[in-house]
Amino acid sequence: MRDRWSSRTIFILAAVGSAVGLGNVWRFPYLTYKFGGGAFLIPFLIALMVLGTPLLILEFALGQKLQKGAIHAFQHVHHRLGGIGFLAITASFIVVVYYAAILAWALVYFVKSFTFNLPWVGDAEGYFFGNVLQLTDSISQIGGVNWWLFLALGVVWLAIYYCVRKGVDSIGKSLKILVPLPLVLLGVLLIRGLTLEGSLTGIYYYIRPDFNALLSTDLWLAAASHVFFTLSIGFGIMIAYASYNDKKQDITENSYITSISDAAISLFAGFVVFAIVGYMAHSTASTVADVATAGPGLAFVVFPQALSMMPLPWLFSILFFLTLLTLGLDSAFSMVEGIIVVLGDFFKATHKKLAMIVCGSAFVLGIIFTTRAGLYFLDIVDHFLSHFGLVLVGLFECIAIGWIYGPEKLRTYINSVSDWHLGAWWDYVIKYFMPAVLIILLVVQMYHEFTVPYEGYPIWALEVGWLVVIIPLVIAIGMALHGSKTSVKCCKK
Ligand code: TRP
Repeated sequence: MRDRWSSRTIFILAAVGSAVGLGNVWRFPYLTYKFGGGAFLIPFLIALMVLGTPLLILEFALGQKLQKGAIHAFQHVHHRLGGIGFLAITASFIVVVYYAAILAWALVYFVKSFTFNLPWVGDAEGYFFGNVLQLTDSISQIGGVNWWLFLALGVVWLAIYYCVRKGVDSIGKSLKILVPLPLVLLGVLLIRGLTLEGSLTGIYYYIRPDFNALLSTDLWLAAASHVFFTLSIGFGIMIAYASYNDKKQDITENSYITSISDAAISLFAGFVVFAIVGYMAHSTASTVADVATAGPGLAFVVFPQALSMMPLPWLFSILFFLTLLTLGLDSAFSMVEGIIVVLGDFFKATHKKLAMIVCGSAFVLGIIFTTRAGLYFLDIVDHFLSHFGLVLVGLFECIAIGWIYGPEKLRTYINSVSDWHLGAWWDYVIKYFMPAVLIILLVVQMYHEFTVPYEGYPIWALEVGWLVVIIPLVIAIGMALHGSKTSVKCCKK
């Protein structure tokens, strides 16, 4: 008998908990900032509506209808397609390996906040790169393992293991705390942020639309791949979670609730970030566009700096990093859970043992991100995975359902269990629109990649990034070629 969520609320909490994470508080504000504030919001919201939500409906429906994890679900669609699930699972595994490393940074900051005299006062940037990461000058100098980060990573993995070891039930319990807490904390930070001088300038920068920027393909690419990331689509997680639902569970409503909550929390986090950035601009007498560095810098340089400029800085630092940790932890364990579900479909080992194997191996692989060149590797892996890995999985999913399984068939099922009925538009989106858009995005991105080396990294380092995409892809293709032999086994039962 398959495990079950104890209630619909727990399922929704789990799905929202997976979707809401560092993507909302760190990645979304950073992209918004990078693309000039308000300019990013429109593509993001459009991509969320036309790409994200329909695909989320697809993943929920597939998992719930077939009652299977990602690999078996796609194998059911066609015996050669198990590789799509495999790609999704590898994507989760790779993301969780570096996601945990980011949580380790947050943990270091969290612990340091208890020293009351915040050590980064005055030079948050120097503190992050020089002290926390001890970053080398270039990716070619690995610089050995940074033992504090190594230790923090170990603690993060113990926490993740603790959350997933008992399966769905223990997840339910942890979720009741992990989902609402960050929201309350963000609320407190927002109120504090809004009462700071200059915050409104930051907020104006955030919400002011910039229609000229809409012509940039870069912007649309970033928005589309971020929607995949933030909704946890293309990772097999949502398929796995939905497979624990009763077959009669509502689907469309659950999907809308998940994607709207996720977007709302991102927008909310954006208000917090830009209020504080506005304050920083005001207090250093510079412009909003100039105060912050893009990338990982936004959460780990600008925030600590802003926090240190507040009254009771240690208290706000503790709150902020606790927010990051709690937001990230449930995302991290949902990735691990998704992997365990799939492994559980293949191997007889207990849930606990599988959890131990997944957490243990992810920890070992993550050691690369605790070296003094770790940030560079993280940057490259994140880039290739989000721009190619996720988009490819999304594309394959649409082709599998749109052209092989038949979107009408899935939609009939969705409508038979859901209060809100899906119109025929959904079939067209899955079958034609989405594949066309994703192919265009991939081609344009590929062109970019070969004309301008990403962030000027050396070729060997970029090849590492390509390998992250290509190795799983080759295995998936191998599974497709081999599929005919295993077909009878997989589909007869
Ligand atoms: N959606 C999560 C966030 O916004 C991150 C994430 C990406 C994720 N892929 C995932 C979470 C897979 C769980 C499972 O931070």
